[in-house]
Amino acid sequence: MTKGKFITLEGGEGAGKSTQTKLLADFLRRKGLKVIETREVGGSPSAEAIRDLWLAQKDKYWDPLTELLLIMAARREHLVKTVFPALSEGAWVVCDRFADSTRAYQGIGLGLGLEPVENVYKLIAPDFEPDLTLLLDLPVETGLARMESRGGMDDRYQQQLVDFHKKLREAFLSLAQKFPVRFRTIDASGDAPGIAASIERAVAERFFAQESPQ
Ligand code: TMP
Repeated sequence: MTKGKFITLEGGEGAGKSTQTKLLADFLRRKGLKVIETREVGGSPSAEAIRDLWLAQKDKYWDPLTELLLIMAARREHLVKTVFPALSEGAWVVCDRFADSTRAYQGIGLGLGLEPVENVYKLIAPDFEPDLTLLLDLPVETGLARMESRGGMDDRYQQQLVDFHKKLREAFLSLAQKFPVRFRTIDASGDAPGIAASIERAVAERFFAQESPQ
């Protein structure tokens, strides 16, 4: 099915994923590629509706397995309505969070375990994984301070403890170790242009090896 490429950006809070998603999409467009920017949880009207339902109730409202199923239902909608059609038309899809966030948050951080996450994922997206996953890694304190300065501490997990975010960081790093071919870990502790340059290097190495270095 795949003709385009699927690139995901992952990491904890305050890593700058949304900014970097846009900058990476611009970089790819400058290369003459057709590019779609999207995000999870969400990325299609139906998936955004599930996101609203999910986030409308905070603080342990959902049973953890129900929460996993909601996120995976949104993912299925996003894949079928947005991602797969774009890829089959040859577009490159840059996605702010994807299944590794579910592995890290629901699977490890919130203690559901990786097995149910992988089982449901296999059902909704058999044999499908990103072509490249960029893990934006930074110390937890730096990420949380960035979120605070943006006044953005308002969603489901951001108010939770530093320990939880440390667990998430370790979870993402262990996923990067487990899937070394798919993952590239990017130091996200610097400023946005520096992070963008590292991302562009990683993407160029992976997909445009003949064209780099400049
Ligand atoms: P965002 O801040 O990147 O928009 O994500 C909103 C929250 O959703 C964030 O705290 C991470 C969380 N999340 C999960 O818990 N599981 C998932 O699978 C995804 C994609 C996000």
